Amino acid sequence: PLRCKIGPSILNSDLSQLYVESQRLLDNGADYLHLDVMDGHFVPNLTFGHPIVKCLRNKIKTAFFETHMMVSNPEQWIEPMADAGVNLYTFHIEPVKEIPKTCRKIREAGMKVGLALKPATGIEDVRQFIDLADVILIMTVEPGFGGQKFMKDMMPKVQWLRHNYPLLDVGVDGGVGPNTITACAEAGANMIVSGTAVINSRDQRSVIAGLREVVES
Ligand code: DX5
Ligand code: ZN
Repeated sequence: PLRCKIGPSILNSDLSQLYVESQRLLDNGADYLHLDVMDGHFVPNLTFGHPIVKCLRNKIKTAFFETHMMVSNPEQWIEPMADAGVNLYTFHIEPVKEIPKTCRKIREAGMKVGLALKPATGIEDVRQFIDLADVILIMTVEPGFGGQKFMKDMMPKVQWLRHNYPLLDVGVDGGVGPNTITACAEAGANMIVSGTAVINSRDQRSVIAGLREVVES
């Protein structure tokens, strides 16, 4: 069976302590880090870019880094993010005209390819590109902010992907935590991004383990 991977989003952590917060998540059982990059244009919020990711990589040598690129021009940041030590470059398909070309550039830069879909974007828009991707990331909130309510009506997209691509890594992102993980697991998601539910808990280790247990059962 497909491996369940838990990737906490550090978006709502104390970013003045980015390294400490990230290392703690990894020590508490996170499989990878989900780093939310926002440009204030594709989404109405700003976070950080490749210079900070590179600093984090200098302190954390081996962990798997995903950057979730909520930016209008993802092609622009492929090289800098590869240079910063990113492993999986997940970009939104909505603003991109030449998706295959972007996927190819990401691979040429030595990273894995993730395709992210906003809630309003249907599976039909990504269908023809699935073979070019390592991960499809289904947004279960409107991208831009942590701590929003999980959209259960996105689960049919996850189900469709799992049904048609049994071996594909399918991710969910937004409002995922102990109260919503069952729906994600039943639909077939195996890459679990969870922000505030993990960050705000006093016992990160048990929340991460609990999420994993539901997906693996
Ligand atoms: C939303 C981000 C998510 C988010 C997850 O734009 O892509 O990764 O921060 O945080 P929670 O789990 O709090 O929704
Ligand atoms: Zn994200």
